[in-house]
Amino acid sequence: MCGVFGYVGPRREIGPAILGALKALEYRGYDSWGVAVPADGTIAVQKETGKIGGASVNLPPATRGFGHTRWATHGGVTVENAHPHLDCGGRVAIIHNGIIENFRPLRAELEARGHQFRSDTDSEVVAHLIEEFLDEGCTLLHATRNAFQRLHGLNAVIAMSVDGDELIATKSMSPLVVGIGSDGSATIASDAMALQGFASDLHYLEDDEIAWIGAGEIAVYERDSLRPRSVSLVPLPLEERDLSLNGHQHYMSKEMAEQPDVLDRLATQSEPMIRELARAIEDSYGTFLTGCGTASYAALTGSYLFSRIAAWHVNFVVGSEFKYHEHFLRDRSFVLALSQSGETADILEAMRAARQHGSRLGALVNTRNSTLDRMADLSVHLDAGPEQCVLSTKAYTAKVSVLLMTAYALAGRAMEGQLLVSRAATAMREMLAPAWVDRVRATAEAIRDANHLFVIGRGLSYPTALEAALKIKEVSYVHAEGFAGGELKHGVIALITEGTPCVVYAPNDETRADIISGAMELRSRGGFMIGIGSENDPVFDIFLETPDVGDASPLVQALPAQMLGYHLALLRGYDPDKPRNLAKSVTVK
Ligand code: F6R
Repeated sequence: MCGVFGYVGPRREIGPAILGALKALEYRGYDSWGVAVPADGTIAVQKETGKIGGASVNLPPATRGFGHTRWATHGGVTVENAHPHLDCGGRVAIIHNGIIENFRPLRAELEARGHQFRSDTDSEVVAHLIEEFLDEGCTLLHATRNAFQRLHGLNAVIAMSVDGDELIATKSMSPLVVGIGSDGSATIASDAMALQGFASDLHYLEDDEIAWIGAGEIAVYERDSLRPRSVSLVPLPLEERDLSLNGHQHYMSKEMAEQPDVLDRLATQSEPMIRELARAIEDSYGTFLTGCGTASYAALTGSYLFSRIAAWHVNFVVGSEFKYHEHFLRDRSFVLALSQSGETADILEAMRAARQHGSRLGALVNTRNSTLDRMADLSVHLDAGPEQCVLSTKAYTAKVSVLLMTAYALAGRAMEGQLLVSRAATAMREMLAPAWVDRVRATAEAIRDANHLFVIGRGLSYPTALEAALKIKEVSYVHAEGFAGGELKHGVIALITEGTPCVVYAPNDETRADIISGAMELRSRGGFMIGIGSENDPVFDIFLETPDVGDASPLVQALPAQMLGYHLALLRGYDPDKPRNLAKSVTVK
């Protein structure tokens, strides 16, 4: 969480360019932002709360500087707590991503030595630590290294002083990528996406590295010894460049609409990786699927698919709980982590635990060169293109498609899996047509004032119900909960009152009769029934008909919930791309 960007180079008025780059990083947090540049023996800082929107930078001209967009962890959303943070004398500035677990003792120690703090953040200690090391005569490189060594936790820090034409950056798990431009500039950011228009080649900083960034040149050192390391440059990936809305009002609707193409591409081009993934599962003594949030629901869907299609048992553990299950891991275990960003801290921690047990690591990941991608022994790339909306849509259906095809490959019926994914893509294209969209919008109108909403599904539709509820609540702020259809009568039904919207997944599979009975029980208690499936039933007040695509039903069933959430958000006046309190890349535990 939090986005950082820094620049050293020939541009004379760098403030506005830094702000532009921060916009590309706002998906990592948008509580507040700030920019700093050196000016007249001190560091000039501009900080504001809220999203960047149409803001402009009003700072002195400079050829070097950095900026930060924040997702608050320690300290409320205030101008004082926004980054960059300065040392006592205003001669050192830092930006930080992560959580400094030992900031309290560090702060107490620094305050006892007379340092004046201006914020409630954990981050500010870094500026004061660097100040002390500079006062002892260290270079900025040494001072930043020494300060970083005092921090506990997963952190990324970029430091700048009024002196020297340089930035210093280092990290542990939180991502940082350094860029070299053809115009004599060098840049650094949390994500390669922010380096578009600046860099042509990238170096992904490793956890034990520290980088010196000067105009058009970078040097990388092993952090503890400060021994020089070779810089391994890779070209800025082309797909990072397309960030247009492509005629859509929001990234969420653009990314929902891209799903059929993503699925078609996976169906036609992913066979070799699917076979390799199926082999890794077959060769293992136990496969674990893990992910967080939406990715966890894709993983849970996978466990149902492997069971019904290939009669193959896989374990599912939600990412943030994985470390409490690591006792089951062996050197022949295979741990497959699902992640859009490849930077989710809980997932990286799970993978580190699995690595310690000698297990084989797999990744189903959208962002190439992300930490997870680089860590895995076997990476399957979703190649769904950048997801800019904070909500995950196309990466979810891409993950489910890969798992569906892998289950079919395990069952020795790979071609069937590919055909099903193509059929789902065609079905989703039909569902994105105006008549279908109008129907979803009308459904959203009917429930726009609801405070609570329940989603139920059984079997393969159970994880879809969980994902549907997450999608609806995070974007529209309607409290939505997903349940296994059979569980309602065990307590949840107490919450159903006259008019409570209940979304029911009723596909044509073995769950149909039971889920319709459950729907009737809800209706008898006043539930306003919204059915999703390929065959209507009188129990439903509204029915959203989806094409019947058999085992690929989780793909087509995901779309109505995405669309419903989107239209509810618009009707209720919320920004679907940046819901409150969220960030796209959850790099803190
Ligand atoms: C929900 C959503 C989150 C992410 C979760 C994991 O729409 O986007 O629940 O799915 O934070 O993120 P990744 O997939 O990047 O590991």
